[in-house]
Formats: sequence, structure tokens, C-alpha cells
Amino acid sequence: MREELYATLDDREAAEHERSSYSVCFTSPEPAQITDLRVPLVLTEDNMEKPNTVTCCAPVNIAVIKYWGKRDEELILPINSSLSVTLHQDQLKTTTTVATSRSFQEDRIWLNGKEEDINHPRLQSCLREIRRLARKRRNDGDPGLNLTGLSHKVHICSVNNFPTAAGLASSAAGFACLVYTLAQVFGVEGELSGIARQGSGSACRSMYGGFVQWIMGKKDDGKDSLAQQVEPETHWPELRILVLVASAERKPVGSTSGMQTSVQTSCLLKHRAESVVPGRMVEMIEAVQRKDFTAFAELTMKDSNQFHATCLDTYPPIFYLNNVSRQVINLVHRYNRHYGDTRVAYTFDAGPNAVIFTLQQHVPEFVQVVQHFFPPDTNGGQFIKGLPGHCAPLSEDLKQAIGLEPMPKGLSYIISTKAGPGPCVVEDPTQHLLGSDGLPKKTA
Ligand code: DP6
Repeated sequence: MREELYATLDDREAAEHERSSYSVCFTSPEPAQITDLRVPLVLTEDNMEKPNTVTCCAPVNIAVIKYWGKRDEELILPINSSLSVTLHQDQLKTTTTVATSRSFQEDRIWLNGKEEDINHPRLQSCLREIRRLARKRRNDGDPGLNLTGLSHKVHICSVNNFPTAAGLASSAAGFACLVYTLAQVFGVEGELSGIARQGSGSACRSMYGGFVQWIMGKKDDGKDSLAQQVEPETHWPELRILVLVASAERKPVGSTSGMQTSVQTSCLLKHRAESVVPGRMVEMIEAVQRKDFTAFAELTMKDSNQFHATCLDTYPPIFYLNNVSRQVINLVHRYNRHYGDTRVAYTFDAGPNAVIFTLQQHVPEFVQVVQHFFPPDTNGGQFIKGLPGHCAPLSEDLKQAIGLEPMPKGLSYIISTKAGPGPCVVEDPTQHLLGSDGLPKKTA
């Protein structure tokens, strides 16, 4: 039974060590040199050991220079570098609780209220890597390391505060949160983006706040394929982000399989990765550092367009944009043309939702424009969620200059947000998603 509990750990010796630190369970004498590693055993009423529980949250990120295509499927190594903006967790975040306990029989995971298969290879990669680092730290003799639970099974419970099906990069926030929380539980510190990357490529960028680049790296083992903060979230306070949720439908082709087909069939993608993105990364980093909205916006739109062009160049082609997406693209260009100034930019990931970048002073009017050309369902809830904003009048001039046929109910709602910080620990224990029995708390 005990052997079985440790069977999935490749380091048997670690299990032996763990076992010997619990004198209450094992009769073998405890080696003197490890007595300082003993942890108090807390038993609950039903004689179950109280789990060691940690809760963290992590953000969604939106790429302005897109990642599309892998050079190594297993390690998740990209064919080009990418750059993203981390969105504020007040509007979009994943919260994850991880509990470890000697009483747990197996690793388990619940996502958005439903138990999922823990044997998913990417989930296993993240668990394996964190446990490996924890053991390495212990073997290196780090005195600060909390050894509790290194050989224990984990229970993981994760929820998003936004609809998963809305195509809002939930896997990025999800894996970033999982890796960050596991690291807290097992006392692993330092660079974690290389592990989050093995859950989902874009997740490595959610390990930092603000403006983040994922450097593609050259090494075969992926050790140099890491995320790095370019500027913190405080760098460009006027920058605003509007997520225009076009549809709650699931995306037709997932990004993992979509990019696989693109790598195999699109010569435009090869050209993009080799000859376009390297220069764009440099220009984008400079635009962010200078807070040059025009340069930032134009690069963002061009890169989104090129990414979707590579999807069309994929054989058979992949279509992520729909009529609503195309109407948003036209609206943005006509709005900018009316002012003779690039005030607003769009970007689209592997789905029809537009993400709009603009500056704070333009938000009220642009939201009115969107509302005019996508008249919302009046019976539905609030059309604009997130950051509060005031209303601006909409001139007839502007409406005529845009001159598009309105698309009623084309958008479900808008989430108004800004750049935000990276993952963090939720200190309040009442926020744990797992109860003292290690199972998901019942929500009302
Ligand atoms: C279009 O990170 O979801 O959003 O690494 O296979 O999990 P996997 O793919 P994923 O791809 C994201 C693609 C994108 C662009 C981006 O976020 O850079």
C-alpha cells in the first residue's frame, strides 16, 4: 500500500526519506540528522491528516506578437519568439488550490467544478518537473526547503472567473497558476516559466505581469526557451484593453493541432518565423519601452493579420475569424482613418473574439461606437463589464464616417481591463477551493 503510494515517483530514495520523517506512522528509528525536517502532524476529526493547502491566482495574457508553431512538440519549443500583455486579474484570472496530504490515495484534479483526467501528458510534465526541482533542492541541501508532502499525492482544484469556452486563453492562465501553486506547495523558487511552458506554450508568458517576451531559445533541451518581463504593469498606465466577446462557442480547431498543421503545410509560416518575427520583436519591444501607441498598435494589427494569413495558408485552411471579427477589423480601421490617427488596435487569437488596445482617453467614445454597430441584446445582462467608464456622446459625423451596417447581437459583451501583475498567493484561507477533507468545497 505504502509502496504503491510512492510508485509514481522516480526517486524512491526521496520517498524513503519522507517516510522516515513521520515517526507516528513508521516504526523504524529516525535518523538523527533529519529530525529538524519533521513537520507537526495535524489530524482532523475523522483522523485524516490535515492537508497542506495553498491557493494562488494567475493572469491571462494576450499576444501582440503571436506564437504559432513548435519545433519540439513534447517540450513545447516555439519556432519564433513572441510578446504579450498580461491582463489584470481583477477582470480575468484563474484561481488554483493545491493540497498535499499523506492521506491522499492518488493525484486528482478538478477544473471548473468537474473532475478531469490527471494523466494528461502536459499536466504530468508540470507535476514531474516541479517534484524534480523540489527533490533537487533538497539534495542540494537547501535548509529553507519545506519538505512537507514531497512524496505525497496532490489534489488540485482550479476555476476561472470568466467562461472557459469564450476562447480567452484559459490554458495560459490555467497552467501558469498550476505551476506557480505547485511551486509554492513544494517550496520551489526561481525560474518557473520553463515549466509552465511545458503545460501550454503561451502559459510561460502568464508567469509575469506587464509586458512579457517569450524568447524562443536555440537549445534542444529547451533550457533557454523562457519568458522574461520587458516592462512591469505600471509602465504604461494609460493603456487599456477591451475584450470583445463575439461568441461563447468553442473554437473549431484547437491551437495545438492548428499550429501543427500550419508547421507542416504553410510556407508563409516558415517565412514569418524566420524573416518577419525577429525584426518585429525588436520593434515591438522598442515601441513598448517608448510607450509609442502608434507603433505598438500598427505592429499588433499587422502581426494578428499575418498570423491569420498563415492560418489561411495552412492546408486545409483554418478559419478563426468570423463575420463579427471582420466587422470589428473594418470598424477599427475606419475609426482610425476618421481621426487620421491610430487610436485603436485589434488582435485575434485562435478564435473570433477581438482584443482591442487603446488609450484611456479614447475608451468612452470607442465603446459607444462598438455599441452602436453591434447593438446588444437588451434583455441580456450588462454589456460592458470590468473597469468602470463614463459615457461619451457619439457624433453623426463619426457614425457616417464608419458607415457600416449594424450587426445586432454580434457581440455578447465587452470586458474592459488594463495591464496587470503576474501570479500571486491568495493569503486568505477562506478562499481555498479545497476543504479540509481535500475535496472541492461545495459552492452555492
Ligand atoms: C494564437 O499556447 O494555446 O494564442 O502551446 O499548444 O498549448 P500550445 O498552444 P497555445 O497557443 C496560443 C496561440 C495563440 C498565440 C499566442 O498566444 O501567442
